[in-house]
Amino acid sequence: MNTKTTVITEAQLASQFAYCDKIAAWWHETETTPTAYVETYGCQQNEADSEKLRGYLVQSGYAIVREAEGADVVVMNTCAIREHAEQRVFGNLGALTHTKRRHPGQKIFLCGCMAGETKVSERIKKSFPHVDGVFSTHHLWQFPEILWNVLNRKKRQFYVEDEAGSIAEGIPQVRDSKLKSWVSIMYGCNNFCTYCIVPYVRGRERSRKKEDILAECRQLIENGTREITLLGQNVNSYGKDLYSDFDFADLLAEIAQIPGDFLIRFMTSHPRDASEKLFDTMAKYPKIAKQLHLPFQSGSSRVLKAMNRHYDRETYLKKVNYAKSVMPDLVLTSDVIVGFPGETEEEFEETISLIQDVHYDSLFTFIFSPRTGTPAATMEDPTPKEEKNRRFDKLCAVQNAISEQIHEAYVGKTMRCLVDGKEGELLTARTEGGRLVRFEGCDSLIGTYQNLNITGSTTWSLTGALA
Ligand code: SAH
Ligand code: SF4
Ligand code: F3S
Repeated sequence: MNTKTTVITEAQLASQFAYCDKIAAWWHETETTPTAYVETYGCQQNEADSEKLRGYLVQSGYAIVREAEGADVVVMNTCAIREHAEQRVFGNLGALTHTKRRHPGQKIFLCGCMAGETKVSERIKKSFPHVDGVFSTHHLWQFPEILWNVLNRKKRQFYVEDEAGSIAEGIPQVRDSKLKSWVSIMYGCNNFCTYCIVPYVRGRERSRKKEDILAECRQLIENGTREITLLGQNVNSYGKDLYSDFDFADLLAEIAQIPGDFLIRFMTSHPRDASEKLFDTMAKYPKIAKQLHLPFQSGSSRVLKAMNRHYDRETYLKKVNYAKSVMPDLVLTSDVIVGFPGETEEEFEETISLIQDVHYDSLFTFIFSPRTGTPAATMEDPTPKEEKNRRFDKLCAVQNAISEQIHEAYVGKTMRCLVDGKEGELLTARTEGGRLVRFEGCDSLIGTYQNLNITGSTTWSLTGALA
């Protein structure tokens, strides 16, 4: 794999904007406004990438629509994290043969993490002839060129070579929300957890320059953003490739000093690199949300070693306890994998006891899924599927009881929440810790902070009333 970082130059980006202009002119001649649909799978990193795909599309004259039916361009921005995620994409990709039959001009693209797997691009070449273009995340910055080549040369385009990981500043973005914005601070991952495909499909860790990140945050806040979520696979190693004396905690502190009424969140933190300095910084600045997503993956030190996570149960617990001691109201969430190859019943019970010790507000729970090319995919895995399902169900039941209990304790409190939308008749809001609150109110409150009395709770959410 190519491990270099390429910084995309202004001239290279300008050449992409020239393709946008050519595409827009091409459509202009037909006197129609073309439409485009982008479907996003997977994590926030992909959400952020989709905003760039939409940015390029809008710059090329497309109107963004909400379904594939009838759209002139369909882009599937895919996730490769688990087998199930890929099967869903292949299913939905197959269904696009019908939308394309009804609208023969439709151009279909597949990008994102699956496009970084050779076996996927080969399968599309052979078995999905209705797909016009495939490009990996390293080639996202070239999307206008790829689209132009498809429209103009009428030939399928595969931009999937293992290029150096790129950093491109200045790609236009069409953001999903004005209130809440994603800001990628780094790309890729160096950790090679033995189960995980991300380092293979997204390349090595590379950080954006702090000046670029700060400028983007300032701009967003000026434009009314109330919540900025900083994104990276391992935000705690931010800057290691660029600076010797400026780390993620320093970046957080600088963003937290930008004037304005807003909150900063971030994900994901790798426990190995989460430092006391980080927790102290979070505690110090009111604009940094007291919310931490700190995936532990397993409660067993033996399994953690086999996962190549570089921390053990004790160090993890020590860090969590320190974080809680400096932030008593901390909302803590995590990821956990059940049924890693060779996980014994006792080791699984260590995971259960860890979640009981830590008392997470909520958990993202996964059953191990072997990914071709990762070390864990070839490890001996004698535990039957039914047994893994049983462990999974038990884990969820234990966590649900904890979430329910934590949510019950909110009832009677008054909390400052950002009103962020509407669901049916009710408005939705988020606490500083990111918990969902539904309440009655008029639409004009959307986008404001309100004090809400918490009146009820379930495992998943809270209900409230304006204070
Ligand atoms: N960079 C983040 C995780 C990104 S992937 C981190 O290290 O915390 C999100 C989650 O998917 C992981 O935390 C893990 O719990 C889960 N995951 C990743 N690969 C998986 C696999 N092969 N099978 C099951 N779950 C997996
Ligand atoms: Fe995957 Fe581990 Fe990197 Fe997270 S830190 S993206 S789990 S390899
Ligand atoms: Fe999936 Fe890629 Fe994110 S594999 S979880 S979309 S980094």
